Amino acid sequence: MSLALELTDLRHRFGDLVALDGISFGVGEGEIVGLVGRNGAGKTTTMRAIMGILRPDRGAVRWLGHEVGEGDRMRFGYMPEERGLYAQMALRHQVAYFARLHGLEREAALAAADGWLDRLGLSGRADERLVALSHGNQQRVQLAVALVHEPRLLVLDEPFAGLDPEAVDSLSEVLRERALAGAAILFSSHQLELVERICRRVVIVDAGRILAAGTLRELRVRFPAQLRVRVDTDEDWASALPGVTVAGVDEEGVLLVVDPGVDPQTVLRAAQARGPVDHFAFETGGLLELYRRMVSG
Ligand SMILES: Nc1ncnc2c1ncn2[C@@H]1O[C@H](COP(=O)(O)OP(=O)(O)OP(=O)(O)O)[C@@H](O)[C@H]1O
Ligand SMILES: [Mg+2]
Repeated sequence: MSLALELTDLRHRFGDLVALDGISFGVGEGEIVGLVGRNGAGKTTTMRAIMGILRPDRGAVRWLGHEVGEGDRMRFGYMPEERGLYAQMALRHQVAYFARLHGLEREAALAAADGWLDRLGLSGRADERLVALSHGNQQRVQLAVALVHEPRLLVLDEPFAGLDPEAVDSLSEVLRERALAGAAILFSSHQLELVERICRRVVIVDAGRILAAGTLRELRVRFPAQLRVRVDTDEDWASALPGVTVAGVDEEGVLLVVDPGVDPQTVLRAAQARGPVDHFAFETGGLLELYRRMVSG
């Protein structure tokens, strides 16, 4: 896959504080990448650098192989952390206004605004002023603004925060659809189970650096795997195996921590030598568990 967006060695300080300390990663066309990390890790600063709101001290932001310019950014959609809409403006005009800023003609902008407001669960409310909406509904408007010109790159800073489960589902669906249509998507979130469900890849940042990046599968191989095995025997068949530690035994079988270099087939064969094996599976743990292991390590 070719990288549509490419960040190379972004560095930035605010006074003495190093906010970005060499951030490099990319987002391919049609790819959804989740940016995760604790408060203050550098997610928003990275996104601001992509959008040109902040000029990093060093490093490059490239789009389709060239240095990103304002013309490219016209085709980007951004949902800023600080949000930024007009409180007194009607939703339809608000969304259409941003569509026009991104080059849509008046009629097309209004039609697109109505379409996206409907899509995000605000049908029938297009004439209301923003200030009359609840927090989560204002957020949906902010999403409509980011999506209305069908951007090639979406940069969404915590787009799921504050949304109800229905809105989470419709936004997830919209993101998948946009990715299928070829858009590159980067979003930040603290809701790791969502990130896990939606993203092809995750980038974990901490103190302005990348702790880890890759698919869940790729991240997992950095840690010893946990293997659950149930074999019909009362004997301890596992603890003498090289690279294997018994982490627990209960009616579900034994839970083994297996070093990365160990071939699981040797564990399986050792189990089968003792009796019939009726369960043999990796307990992979989700992104949340991986994240905890990484940020604590
Ligand atoms: N304008 C600014 N002036 C000074 N320091 C800043 C500024 N913006 C960000 N920082 C600092 O830079 C670091 C990275 O902040 P950033 O907002 O990128 O974190 P984040 O990963 O988005 O965190 P959160 O999950 O809380 O949104 C933090 O230490 C923050 O205090
Ligand atoms: Mg932030």
